[in-house]
Amino acid sequence: MGIINLKGKTVFITGGSSGIGKELSRCFAREGSNLILMSREGKKEVLKEWAESLKRTYSVEVWTITCDLSRPDGPEDAYNQVKSCVPHIDVLVNNAGAMAFGPFHELSPSTHDQILVVNARAYMMLMRLFIPEMVQRKTGYVLNVCSVSAFVPTPRHAVYGATKAFIQALSEAVNEELKGTGVGIFTLNPGYTDTPLLRGDGFPQKLRFYRFAGKSDPATIAEKGVQAFIRGKRVYIPEPHLRFLFFVLNRFLPKRVINAISELMVKGT
Ligand SMILES: NC(=O)c1ccc[n+]([C@@H]2O[C@H](COP(=O)([O-])OP(=O)(O)OC[C@H]3O[C@@H](n4cnc5c(N)ncnc54)[C@H](OP(=O)(O)O)[C@@H]3O)[C@@H](O)[C@H]2O)c1
Repeated sequence: MGIINLKGKTVFITGGSSGIGKELSRCFAREGSNLILMSREGKKEVLKEWAESLKRTYSVEVWTITCDLSRPDGPEDAYNQVKSCVPHIDVLVNNAGAMAFGPFHELSPSTHDQILVVNARAYMMLMRLFIPEMVQRKTGYVLNVCSVSAFVPTPRHAVYGATKAFIQALSEAVNEELKGTGVGIFTLNPGYTDTPLLRGDGFPQKLRFYRFAGKSDPATIAEKGVQAFIRGKRVYIPEPHLRFLFFVLNRFLPKRVINAISELMVKGT
């Protein structure tokens, strides 16, 4: 797959009202893509304002929809709403995500369930709903916003990391299956990024990891992510120092050492 031309393409982004998803929407609009942005009902007005601003600035079409992906019928509802806006999409950006910080046995079962459903089931179901028509049209892409957490266990957000590992494995496997169909699956794998996700549910202000590797800026992550997507990079860690770190960790260190480092770094200070 060569360079992807995004001009005039239709891109559906889940979680488009804040953080990385909002910045991704700006980058896709700058490339000339029309957008369908999604948030939950509570952010409806914020999302509409953002859509208007993108329309004015980049002269693209932007639709907004609301949906709660933690509901059992959430992905089907989102799919049907998208289909009532446009006949097909060219790019599905699975980005909406949830996280909580704390020991596995202390966080509530419903918190774990919410993270699992939003970060894993909803990504999978939206892929399953949109990919058949991409295959039929012989063109289409999925960009799954994953994380470096996909590559190592993440103590104190164990379920979060496990959902990202699930999506990583799913993306790479489905991408192999789809070779030759004109459809491709990509993952964007940032490190900790300064968004509301890191300010919710017991997340400490400071982690040891931040001292060592800092926090990324969502606009930079999105910009680099979209450029890598355009160039056809299938699995992409935007931060060069983390790219190097995870290459070294996974190639040269035994698993028990990686796990111990992970435990040490993901501690509040
Ligand atoms: N921040 C990081 O350190 C980091 C690092 C690596 C990867 N990521 C990934 O990046 C993605 C975006 O996260 P972010 O950091 O940009 O966080 P964010 O600013 O908090 O955005 C999360 C988005 O997910 C949406 N969302 C959450 N629960 C939902 C639900 N039940 N139904 C529908 N939408 C829901 C939110 O929608 P509302 O607008 O309705 O609230 C929001 O737009 C996530 O997949 C996250 O795992 C984040």
